[in-house]
Amino acid sequence: MSAIVVTDLRKDYGPLAAVDGLSFDVREGECFCVLGPNGAGKTTTVEILEGHRDRTGGEVEVLGFDPGSSGREFRERIGIVLQEAGVDDEFTVRELVTLYRGMYPRRRDVDELIELVGLADKAEARVKTLSGGQRRRLDLALGLVGDPELLFLDEPTTGFDPSARRKAWKLVDNLKELGKTIVLTTHYMDEAQHLADRLAIIAKGRMIAMGTPDELSEQHSDDALISFRLPAGVTAGDLPALGSVQVDGPQVTTRTRTATATLTTLTRWATDRGVELESLRLAQPTLEDVYLRLIGGAGDG
Ligand SMILES: Nc1ncnc2c1ncn2[C@@H]1O[C@H](COP(=O)(O)OP(=O)(O)OP(=O)(O)O)[C@@H](O)[C@H]1O
Ligand SMILES: [Mg+2]
Repeated sequence: MSAIVVTDLRKDYGPLAAVDGLSFDVREGECFCVLGPNGAGKTTTVEILEGHRDRTGGEVEVLGFDPGSSGREFRERIGIVLQEAGVDDEFTVRELVTLYRGMYPRRRDVDELIELVGLADKAEARVKTLSGGQRRRLDLALGLVGDPELLFLDEPTTGFDPSARRKAWKLVDNLKELGKTIVLTTHYMDEAQHLADRLAIIAKGRMIAMGTPDELSEQHSDDALISFRLPAGVTAGDLPALGSVQVDGPQVTTRTRTATATLTTLTRWATDRGVELESLRLAQPTLEDVYLRLIGGAGDG
């Protein structure tokens, strides 16, 4: 069963086609991750699904509702963590969570939830005194307080320290175990790798790739990455032909489908010149490599 079905979704802002014909579905109980560069149309898409923005064209069905024309019954079943949530920061953490809780028929326990997001020692603190990461944790609590069956998380862990991020992942894992459906945007590839059952990579409002993390990696698993540091006194121009080479300061990376031959060319060249290739490494592409490759020139919106 699909929790969300999107068909040829379009959103124009004046002359800009921010979402330019997206189609995908999100299955019940899965974590669906939307990746893409700044300005790709992630927030626009997610907010249309939440009923927070209207659309220019296309069909959208969320839990059987059209979010563009649905009311309370729809909103009670979804949870939302906006990329930028404007909450009244004169309230304390507990007051705000309690206030939001009042809006839902199904509710989670306030103190349990505050504990769950790691704000127990800040329960009585005014929101305006919270740090950036603490505020984001509060956003997460507010998204969960109505015990939603479908949760939208727009960059939920931005500003989290590494241990808070791990805790948030655990939280999302627990929600998945409870059978909740989650739509998540993130710029952290390790987060996508860890949480996503399937992911969509979008750029300029269009779908670039979609699949499980493994599927996306496998599509590019023929490639190997060879990297090393440029020896002292050697420039990139001195190197033999190694295919598509990227130079970042002294760090050289090349992507190849013929790792053995490329390595041979490289090491023979180094041996002939009598130079040592420091940090010489052969690796399989990570999700981040795959992402960067797919996005390529499609970045910057
Ligand atoms: N209210 C608006 N009015 C006009 N243009 C907008 C509006 N909201 C977004 N845009 C534009 O639409 C495009 C997509 O924006 P969106 O916020 O959906 O991107 P995003 O993928 O969420 O990016 P980020 O990773 O930075 O959050 C951008 O070019 C943005 O400038
Ligand atoms: Mg965004």
